Amino acid sequence: MSAILKDSPPRFRPMRERDLPGIIEIEESAYDFPWTEGIFRDCLRVGYCCWIYEQAGAITAYGVMSVGYGEAHILNLCVRPDARRGGVGRRMLGHLLDLARRHHAETALLEVRPSNRAALLLYHGMGFQEVGLRRGYYPAARGREDALILAYRLV
Ligand SMILES: CC(C)(COP(=O)(O)OP(=O)(O)OC[C@H]1O[C@@H](n2cnc3c(N)ncnc32)[C@H](O)[C@@H]1OP(=O)(O)O)[C@@H](O)C(=O)NCCC(=O)NCCS
Repeated sequence: MSAILKDSPPRFRPMRERDLPGIIEIEESAYDFPWTEGIFRDCLRVGYCCWIYEQAGAITAYGVMSVGYGEAHILNLCVRPDARRGGVGRRMLGHLLDLARRHHAETALLEVRPSNRAALLLYHGMGFQEVGLRRGYYPAARGREDALILAYRLV
């Protein structure tokens, strides 16, 4: 990597198609049931909010969110494994919530596996509250796993 990129300050920027190979590498290391490149491509094509957090010119986190009818739906939030526990997830989530406010959403929603302790602690710490359960929402090693539905009031 060039010295210029290594020195570049951390920043958020919109995701682009050419980021997808790097994102897929992180995605596959982060989830047992990762999104495919096609899913990310569809999210970009339909105009969802797809953002990246970059440090020293490298992708350290990404987030995908749809916004419509006063509701934002956080669909993916992921931090590169070697960049975790340094506040990046909280920063990325804060960025998505700011974007949702700018789009005049009143509520942000997301689904999370009850077994995903790190994510639950992040979301609860940011002020998300449990508002429901989707039974058998996620694929799991044996059968399916429920999803907790979490909500955050933006107004
Ligand atoms: C969940 C995830 C996004 C958190 O990212 P992160 O950058 O490590 O999180 P942060 O450093 O910003 O942590 C923020 C808070 O979350 C909680 N937290 C995050 N990771 C944690 C862990 N492994 N164990 C316990 N608490 C954790 C803590 O409360 C932390 O606050 P603290 O540092 O003041 O204690 C990251 O673990 C990840 O990408 N996981 C895989 C993908 C995923 O599961 N995404 C969520 C799908 S719903």
